[in-house]
Amino acid sequence: MAVERIDKILSSRNTEGRSAAKALIKAGRVTANGVTVRRPEEKFDPEQTEIRIDGERISISRFVYIMMNKPKGVLSASNDKHSRTVIDLLPEEMKRRGLFPAGRLDKDTEGFILITNDGELAHKMLSPKSHVYKLYEAECDRALTDCDAAAFEKGIRLGELEFMPAEMKIIEKNKALVEICEGKFHQIKRMFHAVGAEVTALKRLRIGQVFLDEALDPGKSRYLTDQELIDILNLKHGI
Ligand code: URA
Repeated sequence: MAVERIDKILSSRNTEGRSAAKALIKAGRVTANGVTVRRPEEKFDPEQTEIRIDGERISISRFVYIMMNKPKGVLSASNDKHSRTVIDLLPEEMKRRGLFPAGRLDKDTEGFILITNDGELAHKMLSPKSHVYKLYEAECDRALTDCDAAAFEKGIRLGELEFMPAEMKIIEKNKALVEICEGKFHQIKRMFHAVGAEVTALKRLRIGQVFLDEALDPGKSRYLTDQELIDILNLKHGI
């Protein structure tokens, strides 16, 4: 990895711009391997250097991958004038420029959302060709039947719209697990609507092979492990 100017490292890894990074350096608040950095033009290898602001170690990797347990009532967007977004919920130490949610959950849907600054991964994950499976738990306004499951497995049609065959497993009278590999607008709600049931609560439990961490309360986040990152794009599926 090549060396980079310290102000560039700081500004690309944090939410503040270049001039804020320079101000931090001038104020003597930045250290590199324990030594206070005095000049913004000093160069370091970000992979090999322990950089701290006010004693807090900063993440030096170019890309970050965050698992959030999105609560209901929060938008899957980077910013919005009227509503809180998943990015607003991130703790300060995880915030940096260029973060966005890779994929959307409806405002009233909760569960696993991936937040990243890696456009290429997001593109791969969201491309219909990739067939990344996502598992949801849906609660409906009526009892679910084997007939519903059979319809899902056959592939649902709704007017002009066609959804690919999806596995559905009834786990309680009104509740089912559904696995899909597409990401059409309101897909799960519309699939249930097509069989005459309305979704009353929806939660995403898994993306690829990675389950939502049960230790994460709604609104909380953590970084993905390297293995989880690989498993996100893993094509194996089945409930
Ligand atoms: N399907 C939906 O209907 N809503 C979501 O948020 C995700 C999948």
